Amino acid sequence: MCPPAHYRVTYSINPWMDPAKPVDLPLALAQWEDLRDRYRSLGHTVELLDPREGLPDMVFAANGATVVDGRVLGARFAYPERTAEAEVHLDWFRAHGFTEVLEPGHINEGEGDFAVTATYILAGRGFRSSPLSHAEAQEFFGRPVIGLDLVDPRYYHLDTALSVLDDTADEIMYYPGAFSPGSRSVLARLFPDALIAEEPAAAALGLNAVSDGRHVLLPQAAVGLFEPLRERGFEPIGMDLGELLKGGGSVKCCTQELRG
Ligand code: ARG
Repeated sequence: MCPPAHYRVTYSINPWMDPAKPVDLPLALAQWEDLRDRYRSLGHTVELLDPREGLPDMVFAANGATVVDGRVLGARFAYPERTAEAEVHLDWFRAHGFTEVLEPGHINEGEGDFAVTATYILAGRGFRSSPLSHAEAQEFFGRPVIGLDLVDPRYYHLDTALSVLDDTADEIMYYPGAFSPGSRSVLARLFPDALIAEEPAAAALGLNAVSDGRHVLLPQAAVGLFEPLRERGFEPIGMDLGELLKGGGSVKCCTQELRG
């Protein structure tokens, strides 16, 4: 995670971002600290990345890399405003003993567009990550990568429309409206038991969730997801990250998972 010390909305690269709407920085920081503390109280270790002045989107740490089995695929950002973040992430991994680190040849925005299930890596395309990055990820991780076409600009990253609930059992939740008809069919075929989110929950960025296989941390406004999650044996934990929503992100965007 990366504290939002320099978080601002000074440009707009997704429909959620409006530079005319000021961010309450102390509130953003408090909301982010709440998320960090919640992970810790659930027994998870949180590593911190130093925020950099001039990189206001760094708080969305999920975009900086993808880590599977201890192997690190670096990011390459679609917009120049975020380009410099990739190197900061790579430096962190190299300084922390990760030896298998790949600087990507194609645009990929880390876990914004890569979701890891037990069997697959699901990969978004259409707004940010290049389809070519999918082949690169498949070769590097040696796991089947399933490309999914995102069609609604509000759901510009895969992690705004789909979330892995249990990465030992291929259990996911998603909002079908964010995907092309063909990609919807692929998801229905691979994940027939998925939890299907309705539009209001998706519009509250309810799919931008992090699950440890039992607890699911998600935006508290996504009320429609709480009962279906409980029915499946999960414990939903609602978080208020309203200030981060102004940048187009929530729980998952603020969290990069270090697998293995
Ligand atoms: N303002 C950031 C951008 O548009 C938000 C990124 C959100 N992160 C995510 N994992 N979806 O790039």
